Amino acid sequence: MYSEKVMDHFMNPRNVGEIENASGVGTVGNAKCGDIMKVYLQIEDGIIKDAKFKTFGCGAAVATSSMATELVIGKTIEEALKITNKSVAEALDGLPPVKMHCSLLAEESLHAALWDYAKKNNITIEGLKEPV
Ligand code: FES
Ligand code: FES
Repeated sequence: MYSEKVMDHFMNPRNVGEIENASGVGTVGNAKCGDIMKVYLQIEDGIIKDAKFKTFGCGAAVATSSMATELVIGKTIEEALKITNKSVAEALDGLPPVKMHCSLLAEESLHAALWDYAKKNNITIEGLKEPV
């Protein structure tokens, strides 16, 4: 049912934890299942230097959080905004269709953390919508 990459990121998730004094923190809940994901971003000079996460959720949610943090580290804010749940799922060699909603948490928590960063710094990030 799950690709080897999903299993790997579930069994050995990368970047689990918190960042003290993070530039931006985003917490989102999945309306479909109640699972929760929290993402911390360290941003310097417009580059995402570090990302960590805590996920209270299913295996697919853990694997997508792990992959999303790997994808976002080293990216500019603009590039980070282009990370979608589909691109995270693709990077994991796919998710079972019933588990696609889990990957939405990764996209939404990244966006929420960027929103928090923008708010703290009084800036506007073009194309970023306020998290619901
Ligand atoms: Fe069962 Fe998320 S609903 S782990
Ligand atoms: Fe809740 Fe996967 S079942 S995020």
